[in-house]
Amino acid sequence: MGTDNISSVMVIFGGTGDLTHRKLMPAVYNLLYDKSLPENFCVVSVGRRDKTDEIYRNEVYESIKKFSRIKIDDELWKNLRDRIYYQKFEFNDDYGYSKLKDFLRMLDDKYQTNGNRIYYLAVAPEYFELIVEKLHQHGMAENEKSWQRVMIEKPFGKDLNSAVYLNKKITDVFTEKNTYRIDHYLGKEMLQNIMVIRFANVFFEPVWNNKYIDNVQISSSEMVGVENRGGYYEKAGALRDMIQNHMLQLLTLTAMEPPIDLTTDSIHDEKVKVLKSLKELTPDLVLKNAVRGQYEGYRNEDRVSPDSDTETFAALKVFVDNFRWAGVPFYIRTGKKLPVKSTEIVIQFKPLPGVLYFKEYGGLMPDLLVIKIQPEEGVFLQFNAKRPGTLNKVIPVRMDFCQNCQVGMNSPEAYERLIYDALRGDSTLFTRWDEVEYSWRYVDKIAEVWKNNKPEFPNYKPGTWGPYDADELLLRDNFKWWNIGGFYDENV
Ligand code: BG6
Repeated sequence: MGTDNISSVMVIFGGTGDLTHRKLMPAVYNLLYDKSLPENFCVVSVGRRDKTDEIYRNEVYESIKKFSRIKIDDELWKNLRDRIYYQKFEFNDDYGYSKLKDFLRMLDDKYQTNGNRIYYLAVAPEYFELIVEKLHQHGMAENEKSWQRVMIEKPFGKDLNSAVYLNKKITDVFTEKNTYRIDHYLGKEMLQNIMVIRFANVFFEPVWNNKYIDNVQISSSEMVGVENRGGYYEKAGALRDMIQNHMLQLLTLTAMEPPIDLTTDSIHDEKVKVLKSLKELTPDLVLKNAVRGQYEGYRNEDRVSPDSDTETFAALKVFVDNFRWAGVPFYIRTGKKLPVKSTEIVIQFKPLPGVLYFKEYGGLMPDLLVIKIQPEEGVFLQFNAKRPGTLNKVIPVRMDFCQNCQVGMNSPEAYERLIYDALRGDSTLFTRWDEVEYSWRYVDKIAEVWKNNKPEFPNYKPGTWGPYDADELLLRDNFKWWNIGGFYDENV
């Protein structure tokens, strides 16, 4: 990766928060390690706690030591350390912004950063609008002779209306071109690989349609509960926290048509078409095709209401109603306190006509292609072959490609790629406004029905695959969830 034309100051609002310590600072350090950080670059963290540069730098050092994928090298750290600054002020404090503005000008001179800025809003969503407004009022987002970009963490709104409102506030100041909406899943290696696997191999693309595919299963499971995020999660739930963004992004990449080229807009255009083709949800369809769950014990978590109706699990049956996919169910599921931490896309192919290999030969298992997003990154293929030494007995065999199992392979973290792309001005791996808009349109229909129907919660035990209704969703169609996370054996 090169570092031309990306000289800038990265200003992180929320500099003392979890995201900054666990993800952003280690990502900056790893970019430096990979020689992808420009020489003319520094970081200013803004927070509300009182601390000196010195104290802050020591804290960042500890975080990098703990969370970086690459072991910290003290020489290299010295190179970064002196380029990290801390500024304390409340996000509504005008004096704080004018001081910051002067400080950034001084840093421009020191680091030759030409007025280029990345403002990273690693703060609770209620501050997005305020900070953008203040940056505007103080003439810090003017985009004349230099560039100023804003990176915004999710959640981008809590429904369509609030997202439209927020979007206007942000793009009035920064314009769409300079707005980088983060969906960190897009920064993951294997999400970027989905398009390559699909569009660079002759044996996948021709069968990637409703003639050959029986169903698609997209799962993202976590073993953890809500941990210390009960306050946020109560208002979000699995639908807003995972489905509206990460899961629908996985769906669009799996279902999209090949773009006419690899430019940002061409790719986003195709992704949006998938979202526009999602089969309209009526309240009846929501009741039939959307399942929610809550794990036992969630109501006792910190900052969670004792009679909470927030879902910690969601499973959907979705149709992409276009020429390629009509009739193929896409099953999506995500949840907390499930048996494994894993994200995978399973493509189940249609059976061949059953005229040759009947039961006496062992029956035929469906061909499966699994795109393994995390923790293993790779592709798994299951197909039928003759069992050695028998009379034509057929068994499923597997080819398993794991790219991050190879020695010395240490895939960059999502945030490294995202920060680097924002520095380069490439928004391909960020969500364009219409993607966010159409995702909310879809998800709002589900949220509306769920709001008006009281669930029977809790309905699944920690360490299980969610409520029975999620299994039922597939059994009705004579399918079953394929286990994920490398436990395919059980299915054979
Ligand atoms: C975040 C959600 O966006 O993604 C979290 O807010 C979730 O609730 C996380 O745990 C999962 O991300 P990853 O990269 O660990 O799969």
